Amino acid sequence: MARRTTAPPISWLMQLTLERPGLISLAAGFTDDETLPAREAKAALTELLSESKSSRIALQYGSTAGDPTLRRLTTERWSRQDNNPPWTQQIDPAKNLLITNGSQQLLYLVAECLCDPGDIVLVEDPTYFVFLGIAQSHGLRCRGITLTDAGMDLAHLEQVLEDLKRSGGLSRVKFLYCVSYFQNPTGRTTAWTVKAGALELLRRYERAAGHPLYLLEDAAYRELRFAGEDVPSTLTFKQAYQRVIYTGTYSKPFATGVRVGFGWLPDALFTPVHRLKGNHDFGTTSLLQQLLVRVLESGQYDRHLEVLRRRYAHKAKIMTAAMQETFPPRVTWLTPRGGLYVWGRAPRSWKTGIGSRVFEQALQQDVLYVPGRLCYAKDPTRRVPQHEMRLSFGNASDGDLRAGIQRLGTVLHAAGNA
Ligand SMILES: Cc1ncc(COP(=O)(O)O)c(C=O)c1O
Repeated sequence: MARRTTAPPISWLMQLTLERPGLISLAAGFTDDETLPAREAKAALTELLSESKSSRIALQYGSTAGDPTLRRLTTERWSRQDNNPPWTQQIDPAKNLLITNGSQQLLYLVAECLCDPGDIVLVEDPTYFVFLGIAQSHGLRCRGITLTDAGMDLAHLEQVLEDLKRSGGLSRVKFLYCVSYFQNPTGRTTAWTVKAGALELLRRYERAAGHPLYLLEDAAYRELRFAGEDVPSTLTFKQAYQRVIYTGTYSKPFATGVRVGFGWLPDALFTPVHRLKGNHDFGTTSLLQQLLVRVLESGQYDRHLEVLRRRYAHKAKIMTAAMQETFPPRVTWLTPRGGLYVWGRAPRSWKTGIGSRVFEQALQQDVLYVPGRLCYAKDPTRRVPQHEMRLSFGNASDGDLRAGIQRLGTVLHAAGNA
C-alpha cells in the first residue's frame, strides 16, 4: 500500500492555499471564514464544560459507534428530511448509524471493508477527487459513469454493467459511489428517478455478480441548498435499507474544523465497518460530538445553517456574475443551487490541467482552481477530459471572488487567443 499510494492532490492544494497568503484560492473546499460559528461554539462549549456530568462525557473516551444522543439526533434529522421512510417504523434506524471523523472516514471505511485490490468501483464521471485517492491507494479499478444534468446517465450505467458482465468483471464490482446533492465537483443534483433507476439496475445485476451491489450515497452537501426543493435520498426506497449506504456530514453545514460525519449502513455492513472503525480510532472525539449535540438540541445548528445558506447563495451569485462579465463566452457553467462549486467548461482544446498554460498563468496571477482532470477516475475505456475546472465560492471573500474570477477571465481570454 505504501508503494502504491500517490500524493493526494487535496493535500497539495490545501498546503498551497495556506502557504501563499496572497493567493486567491478557488480550489480547496474550505468554507466561508466570516460565518464560522465561533460565538455559537464558544457558548455551547462553555455550557458543556461548566457542568460536571456533561464535562465528564465530553472529556472522556466514548464508544466506537458514537454518542447515543448524537446518533439518535442524526437519525431523526435524515428521517425527517426523507419524510420518515416506512421501513424506519419497523426497525430502529439509529442502531445502524455510525458517527465518524468526517464523512471522509466513512468513505474510507466502506472502501476498505468491501474491496480487495483489483476490485471495481463505479463512480460518477467526474467525481469527488479525494474519493479517487482512496480507490487508488487500495488498488481499486474505477469505471466512470457519464453524468447528465439529472445525475448519472442510466443508459451508460447499464452499458457498463453489461460490459463487465460479458467480460467476466462483474464479480469484482462492489459498489456504486454517487455524490447526490450539489455534486463535488459539478454542482449537479441527482434526480430521485435516477436514484431509483440506479438501484434497480444494481439489483438486476446482482445475480450475475454473485453478491450484493451497494449504492453509496454521499450527501455531504445536502443541507447546503439555497435554491429549489430537497430531493429525497435513496433511503426512502423500499428495501433500500439492505443495499444503501448513506453518508452525510456536520463539517460543511456547521464548521469544517469540527470534523464530524456519519454513515448509515445496512445490517450486513454495519458490523464489519464498526469493527474497522474500532481498529482505526475506537470512536470519534467526544468533545466535538457533545458540541454538536448541544447546538443541534438548542436550535443553533439550524439557525446557523440558514445564515450559511444565505451567505453561499450570495457568494455563488457574485462568482457567476463575475464569470458572466469576464469569462470568454465559449466557457460555460451551470448556475449552482447549493453546495460550494461551479464547474467551468472551456472548449475541448483549451487545457486546464496542472502544468498547462492556463493553470500556470492563473498561478502566476495568484489564482488557484482545481483542474477538472483530477476529478476523473483512471478508466481505460475513455479519455480523460482536459478542459474543465472546479471553482469554489466557499472560502474567498466577496472581493477576492470578483478579483480571482477577473484574473482567471484574463488568462482564459489569452488561452482563447493563443
Ligand atoms: C463529496 C464529499 N464527500 C465527503 C467529503 C468529506 O467531508 P468531511 O470529511 O469534512 O465530512 C467532502 C469534502 O470536501 C466532499 O466534498
